[in-house]
Amino acid sequence: MAQKKAIFVCQNCGFKSAKWLGKCPDCEEWNCFSEESTSAFLPKVSAKGIQVIEPVKLSEISENDIKRIKTSIKELDRVFGGGIVPDSLTLIGGAPGIGKSTITLQVASELAKERKVLYISAEESEGQIKMRASRLGISSNNIYLLTESNFEAIKVVIEKMRPQIVIVDSIQTMYTGNISSTPGSVSQLREVTFAFMDFSKRFHFATILIGHVTKDGAIAGPKVLEHMVDTVLYFEGEHNGNLRILRSMKNRFGATNEIGVFEMRGNGLIEITNPSLLFVNITKESLSGCALMAVMEGTRSLLTEIQALIFQTHYQMPKRTSVGFDLNRLHMLLAIMDKYLGLKFAQNDVYVNVVGGFKIDDTATDLGVMAALISNYLNKSIPYNIAFMGEVGLNGEIRGVPFLESRLKEMEKLGVKKVILPEQSASSISEGQFKLELIYVSQIREFFRFLNALN
Ligand code: TYD
Ligand code: MG
Repeated sequence: MAQKKAIFVCQNCGFKSAKWLGKCPDCEEWNCFSEESTSAFLPKVSAKGIQVIEPVKLSEISENDIKRIKTSIKELDRVFGGGIVPDSLTLIGGAPGIGKSTITLQVASELAKERKVLYISAEESEGQIKMRASRLGISSNNIYLLTESNFEAIKVVIEKMRPQIVIVDSIQTMYTGNISSTPGSVSQLREVTFAFMDFSKRFHFATILIGHVTKDGAIAGPKVLEHMVDTVLYFEGEHNGNLRILRSMKNRFGATNEIGVFEMRGNGLIEITNPSLLFVNITKESLSGCALMAVMEGTRSLLTEIQALIFQTHYQMPKRTSVGFDLNRLHMLLAIMDKYLGLKFAQNDVYVNVVGGFKIDDTATDLGVMAALISNYLNKSIPYNIAFMGEVGLNGEIRGVPFLESRLKEMEKLGVKKVILPEQSASSISEGQFKLELIYVSQIREFFRFLNALN
């Protein structure tokens, strides 16, 4: 028998080393190596032991086989790309207490109307889960609970019960007896996730794995898991607030960055179908330094408000602070305004904030950020029914934006009357398509003149 050799594995990214290391050369995390045995890897199968399997022609696979399972929670189906794909493996990650168990139990309840659901929990007792279910008003005959953490034991139950949906709360507590590493270690995570993946494809059930995140917000053992599963969803939210955002980080069957918005109430998570209303209040009076813009989140646009504050600095180096907007991009916009509009920001501190704690990663918001900055610089308020969109280039040119129609629709829906947008986009909009007054601009000088002419 071959002698077992010790190997050190980074618990963050799965990097392997023959000796212990203080810092992982791959993910640069410190103190993350632990010893695991080499038998952690799949047993070798001799050619004789392999079953003969035939490949299938792509053209012969019917699309009915991949009919999505709707959860009837619309915000969730959107994040999944239209529903859960049968036999797929989904990972839902999030901080403790964010609502992962709650949402999966709610999903279980919806799915249990037509399917058998197995809810495996190694974190809570049956009684605790029952208490949550009562709070959520769930009492389905088709949800089966299993408080077990050993994969081999779970396998026997699944083989007998044949559920269509399996929920695992949480993947970090599961282990397989095939390897000796402790639950939660990279080897166990990889092994157990692989086991569920393999098993779900053979026994035809969709799996939802719940994953804990580390303090800096990544799923513990993240890279290993993210590669293996079909879909990775993150559950985010502020700790004090009740707002929860479910975001797709990876999706083999749909768009990424798609979001679903929920509110945590006393009786569970309620979906919010019009989240723009949370971030803006269109009837509000106009204020200096506030501008509206439409931000794309996946395939959906959200109307968002940005605020800017500029005042004379008391420091040698003026301060630039940005919450929710990329700081490098802010520096760039300030430099462009300095060069082409002659606005002197060098003596001023600049603060930018996206209302509602939202993070923006969309260059089409440049013009809105610039509008807020200029508005506060000139001390002129922008009427609250004007919105902006456009990317600003280094020559002060205003460039076209993607998803024009979706952004304009959202603006129209929420009561915006006037939109400032790039000249380039004019050709993509047909006459009378929107009940909005559209003002086209192609250069920031022209844009500045427009803002300067406001009362
Ligand atoms: P939970 O789903 O247990 O979080 P996780 O599984 O991500 O750790 O949710 C826990 C929090 O949610 C807890 O602080 C209580 C709160 N909560 C509600 O506000 N309303 C509810 O209906 C439920 C079930 C939980
Ligand atoms: Mg939980």
